[in-house]
Amino acid sequence: SSKGTSVNDKLYAICQLLEKEVAYYNWVGFYFKNGDKNELKLGPYVGAPTDHTIIPFGKGICGQVAVSNKNFVVPDVSAQDNYIACSITVKAEIVIPIFVNSENIGQIDIDSNTPDPFTEADERFLEFVCKKVASIL
Ligand code: SME
Repeated sequence: SSKGTSVNDKLYAICQLLEKEVAYYNWVGFYFKNGDKNELKLGPYVGAPTDHTIIPFGKGICGQVAVSNKNFVVPDVSAQDNYIACSITVKAEIVIPIFVNSENIGQIDIDSNTPDPFTEADERFLEFVCKKVASIL
């Protein structure tokens, strides 16, 4: 439909809200499967621009979630060997997959400049956000 706010505008508004309201959410963005390619493509985000607009499946935290279909909570990014650094200020990361008809079609990715900030409450909350996102795609 040409009416109303576009999906990308809504996703960007979600990024803005999360980054503004949660002090330890410092980069908030969406990655989506890129057509039928085995890679993720960066969608709307808030935070420092990243060179990693395309991420092959399996690469980095995001690429691993594209394959595992599971939440990935990283308390200390420096302890990860399969990690793609976007900014030297980032200490921790959380990635939650987005499912449409049981298919993993993308993810929300959040970086934190605070060490080990994410709890199970973040996982439950972001799973809720991802379900809402799935319902508007
Ligand atoms: N750190 C991610 C790459 C995306 S940036 O955080 C925006 C990863 O390892 O997949």
